[in-house]
Amino acid sequence: MDDHFMTETLLKLSGKVALITGGSSGIGLATAHLMHAQGASVVIVGRDATKLDEALLTIGPRASGVVADVSSVADIDRVMAAVSERHGHIDVLFANAGTSHNPPLREVDEAAFDSMIGLNFKGVFFTVARALPLLANGASVILTGSAAADMGRWGDPLYAATKAAVRSLARTFANDEELTLRRVRFNVLSPGAIKTPLTQGAYEQPDVDAYVCAAVPMKRWGNAEEIASAALFLACADSSYMTGSILAIDGGMAQV
Ligand SMILES: NC(=O)c1ccc[n+]([C@@H]2O[C@H](COP(=O)([O-])OP(=O)(O)OC[C@H]3O[C@@H](n4cnc5c(N)ncnc54)[C@H](OP(=O)(O)O)[C@@H]3O)[C@@H](O)[C@H]2O)c1
Repeated sequence: MDDHFMTETLLKLSGKVALITGGSSGIGLATAHLMHAQGASVVIVGRDATKLDEALLTIGPRASGVVADVSSVADIDRVMAAVSERHGHIDVLFANAGTSHNPPLREVDEAAFDSMIGLNFKGVFFTVARALPLLANGASVILTGSAAADMGRWGDPLYAATKAAVRSLARTFANDEELTLRRVRFNVLSPGAIKTPLTQGAYEQPDVDAYVCAAVPMKRWGNAEEIASAALFLACADSSYMTGSILAIDGGMAQV
């Protein structure tokens, strides 16, 4: 018991290697900052090289980047090869890259469907699948879900379904016998309405802002740092008895 709580005084990710997809913006970037501050070496992934470089300048000396589109399996393989070469293994995998930008229901065509599924579902699946050989014993895998998966919110069936699929993936991965024996844990972070570049177009509209604040019991948007704190909790030994779980950070939006 004493040993367990003694670790509280140390950095929570000292010497660990964290791979964060979508680490150049919003939730992923805030998490990269926090995990780096807690002692991890972080590798962040995004498509835009300039944005990635700008993000790296703000994180610190143990941060590096890979430009890649995680809806492409070939790109994911390049990411894993880079991580393998730089660090040899992964202790924390944050499969976070995703988008909620899709056309309204009646305008969704096949290309828009494939694009959303390709990033939010296929991208997460293959990010985890191709990382498996690199995952250290005791690794923590965190998938970014969304409160939208639990809400049946009007207008967002495709996005919500991709995030429900992510929830399902975590349950099944967490029950994989070989991974369980290696003490690899899988959990889902489920953010509610969070102010990031992804949602800027929404929270700057007074009517959307008012709608969200009315829908959230805590009457406000969350911020990326509040999600990063939860990601750190799932990444480190503080959550050592959690796997297959979902952790909602949504101001109560999908809870009450
Ligand atoms: N913000 C919210 O309210 C909210 C709520 C629930 C869930 N989420 C989820 O949280 C995650 C992060 O969202 P965020 O709000 O932090 O968004 P964000 O600020 O737009 O950041 C998204 C990140 O993902 C990267 N990315 C996007 N498409 C990519 C691709 N195909 N391949 C590789 N990287 C890609 C972006 O970089 P590039 O553009 O350079 O590729 C960026 O680094 C998403 O999965 C989102 O669905 C967000």
